Amino acid sequence: MLSPTAALAAIDAVRQHFAARFAAGLEPPAVAAELAKVLTLLAEVDFSRADEQHLRASGHPVVTRLRSAGVASGGAATEAVFRAFLPHLDALPWRFSYEPREDAPDIGERMAWAELVGPIAPFHSHKVCLGLTAIGPDLLYPTHRHPAVETYLVLSGTAAWTAAGVTRDQPPGTLILHPSNIVHAMRTTAAPLLAAYAWTGEVETLSEYVDA
Ligand SMILES: [Fe+2]
Repeated sequence: MLSPTAALAAIDAVRQHFAARFAAGLEPPAVAAELAKVLTLLAEVDFSRADEQHLRASGHPVVTRLRSAGVASGGAATEAVFRAFLPHLDALPWRFSYEPREDAPDIGERMAWAELVGPIAPFHSHKVCLGLTAIGPDLLYPTHRHPAVETYLVLSGTAAWTAAGVTRDQPPGTLILHPSNIVHAMRTTAAPLLAAYAWTGEVETLSEYVDA
């Protein structure tokens, strides 16, 4: 089981990283505005009470795949965030909620996300989500979209990230903004991907696949 203290430390590490990036003033205006929104909404969350139902470990196989692939810190920029999550990977509340698909029958065993703030998370919010996404090695997370605005912070692994048809390799330390309903996908190489994410806006509507 994830301790509330560990969950809070991980949340705080992301929050501090976002605050530092915002304060540095080097992000594009849209990214800076979204960081400010995430920080404002996180400040409204009641962190004095944790829902223990969502602190129970799920034991997802993606954690085993991460360990066998050798997940590594992305460097100084994200070191504190990475280290706040790493000892607790087994204890995070991993889930995967997409419908099964014939072209990727084992995808639910190879990737998952663990939410610490959100509608279904230890710390409840209907306005903001914060969590960790893990994608095992050599996997395509197929094109998908969701109405929530999404900010990713890459912690480990350089995957090929596609948004609105444009693909870029995004190394650790990169902040990636997905506007509402933009079609996006990720493809990992031999290195798995670990990334922290935040959602704002319509956070209660799940992501759905967009078939090409
Ligand atoms: Fe997304």
